[in-house]
Amino acid sequence: MAKVLLTGGAGYIGSHTAVEFLEAGIDVVVADNFSNSSPEAIKRVEKITGKSVALYEKDVCDKDATREIFQDHQIDAVVHFAGFKAVGESVAKPIEYYRNNINSALVICELMREFDVKGIVFSSSATVYGTSEKVPFKEDAPTGGCTNPYGWTKFMIEQILSDFAKATPDVSATLLRYFNPVGAHPSGMIGEDPYGIPNNLAPYVCQVAVGRLPMLQVYGADYDTPDGTGVRDFIHVVDLAKGHVAAYQHMKKGVQVYNLGTGHGYSVFDMIKTFERVNGVKIPHKVVDRRPGDVATSYADPSRANQELDWKATLGLDDMCRDAYNWQRKNPNGYRV
Ligand code: UD1
Repeated sequence: MAKVLLTGGAGYIGSHTAVEFLEAGIDVVVADNFSNSSPEAIKRVEKITGKSVALYEKDVCDKDATREIFQDHQIDAVVHFAGFKAVGESVAKPIEYYRNNINSALVICELMREFDVKGIVFSSSATVYGTSEKVPFKEDAPTGGCTNPYGWTKFMIEQILSDFAKATPDVSATLLRYFNPVGAHPSGMIGEDPYGIPNNLAPYVCQVAVGRLPMLQVYGADYDTPDGTGVRDFIHVVDLAKGHVAAYQHMKKGVQVYNLGTGHGYSVFDMIKTFERVNGVKIPHKVVDRRPGDVATSYADPSRANQELDWKATLGLDDMCRDAYNWQRKNPNGYRV
């Protein structure tokens, strides 16, 4: 029976992806060190799906510890989510980011070689397109020019996996470039649970909505966009999760790169207005200066994934806002009770 190892599988995107694999009839094994996630997420994945998950508390930078998972299970592919992901923190702690993110990717490659595992799907990011203004982004657009060490780790791991796949017969490396994942599972049982003050827009809006934070700051309303605020390709996390299952099912030898986005750009004001309308709440906000490193507009050309993976994002901004709030209202403090 097919079995997929999800590193970082207890995190936001990992846990939603675990649900979609299990619902597609594919067994998952999760490795997570819970540095930014909770084992409770996996309990809830099991509740949602009625299936059990083999969960290992492991740091995938530790090769000997991680080897046990490959000894215990016949893994036929790895979906590699594990990694540090806070942009601002990566600027302050570049060495930690490079050490953790690059090292874990190398360990996974070494264990794949040792156990003859043929497929890896990697959690990359639209951040690899850097500050290029040419939207929508296509996969063959130039990459690099990242604005922070977090982004550079994604860029470097893409290179490492590409070289690994080229050098190793029959290995398939699929690089998934996510745009802006938001929302939560419609059950409200799993969702995004950042530690500390959120850096990203949607969790910040959610925490303002439930009164955990007083006010949203809108970082700039003087961009060259229809309403002056930043435009992003927000994608429902369930659509994104399904993209991983599609990528796994369509793995082929060599390196494949896919954008996972909707192809539509929505502004920060669109997000606030939609959230207020669908949830009947007010989001107090004020416009402040631009955030360094932000681009005006980012959205995907997702046509390659649409055609080759037979996958398409189907949920809209209303669904994203409704499901994000449903999760936050049911779990105002996330997985911490
Ligand atoms: C950021 C990262 C990206 C990472 C992604 C993870 C950068 C340049 N990019 O994307 O590498 O993969 O997070 O999800 O940092 N905004 C506000 N107020 C807030 C928060 C955000 O106005 O409190 C605005 C931002 O200025 C931006 C938009 O909302 O226009 C989206 O921001 P965010 O959710 O942080 O995502 P990105 O910056 O696009």
